[in-house]
Amino acid sequence: MKLAVIEGDGIGREVIPAAVKVLDAFGLEFEKVPLELGYARWERTGTAMSSGDLETLKECNAVLFGAITTVPDPNYKSVLLTIRKELDLYANIRPVKPLPGITGITGKSDFDFIIVRENTEGLYSGIEEIGSDLSWTKRVITRKGSERIAEYACKLAKKRKNKLTIVHKSNVLKSDKLFLDVCRQTAADNRIEYEDMLVDSMAYSLMMYPERYDVVVTTNLFGDILSDMCAALVGSLGLVPSANIGDKYAFFEPVHGSAPDIAGKDIANPLAAILCVKMLLEWMGEPRSQIIDEAIANVLQKKIITPDLGGKASTMEVGNAVAEYVVKNL
Ligand code: NAI
Ligand code: MG
Repeated sequence: MKLAVIEGDGIGREVIPAAVKVLDAFGLEFEKVPLELGYARWERTGTAMSSGDLETLKECNAVLFGAITTVPDPNYKSVLLTIRKELDLYANIRPVKPLPGITGITGKSDFDFIIVRENTEGLYSGIEEIGSDLSWTKRVITRKGSERIAEYACKLAKKRKNKLTIVHKSNVLKSDKLFLDVCRQTAADNRIEYEDMLVDSMAYSLMMYPERYDVVVTTNLFGDILSDMCAALVGSLGLVPSANIGDKYAFFEPVHGSAPDIAGKDIANPLAAILCVKMLLEWMGEPRSQIIDEAIANVLQKKIITPDLGGKASTMEVGNAVAEYVVKNL
């Protein structure tokens, strides 16, 4: 197993070392391949990622990624979007589940759902033209892209409650009609109970009644926005992990960005990155991955928590405490 480790910029450099500590606690055979990508690399060398880096990534099986700061250059091509496309990581999986004893803005803790976001097309197609009087971006929805994300969501729904919510905006965006039709057909073919929601009312409903949902499938931009919003349900952006999955590769990253406002202070919450390690282990079929949930529950109970959750612990103190629990209880 070859794992590329990309810390990236800002708090990526703090949360990933803490997550790697937890991964190391499992004592598994990994060849770790560190790669420097992102803003700092661009400042130093003029390029955020080279084609050589892409080749290196393609020689790895999986990637653990922190976050990178967007490069302030109008011609900058997003490193993340390039990787998602090049490795064909078409399914972006974002579980939203409260951690024990922590509630978000609604005070609720009776929900557990997964956002399945199409990850290679939609408004993130990269087909755009920027002018001083006219700028546009092409929103691409294909049958193939919709079918494979719908199949992925249905597979997940079968393992859970056999229930799917399709989120779209086909009343205004006619391109979403194709997405909606394909998702409905795929759900029907798989005998999954399904409903559909317009994205704006879904945003409201997720905040009011998160317990109603189980597997939610949607297009690229909607999934991006809804998943950040749902971080407020669990209490912090520092608690939400994600996995970008393709047929050949998988790429694990916290939902949050590089957080320049708190970078370098050693106060970033590493739990999202640590939960990414859990998703990586699950993807590998490692049966002991569940121990990470137990370890996190233990650390939360002891109030070893970062300031975003009202605590005083540093990023590495949380990482060390989770790793110690794993080592002792494996
Ligand atoms: P952000 O997610 O970095 O931060 C939003 C807010 O949440 C900030 O107040 C931050 O302090 C807080 N926060 C985020 N993660 C946290 C953590 N682990 N613990 C405690 N607090 C946390 O989003 P923002 O500020 O919009 O973006 C900053 C930079 O990151 C931008 O350059 C953006 O383009 C980039 N970005 C990169 C992503 C990636 O690499 N996957 C994803 C999102 C943004
Ligand atoms: Mg985002």
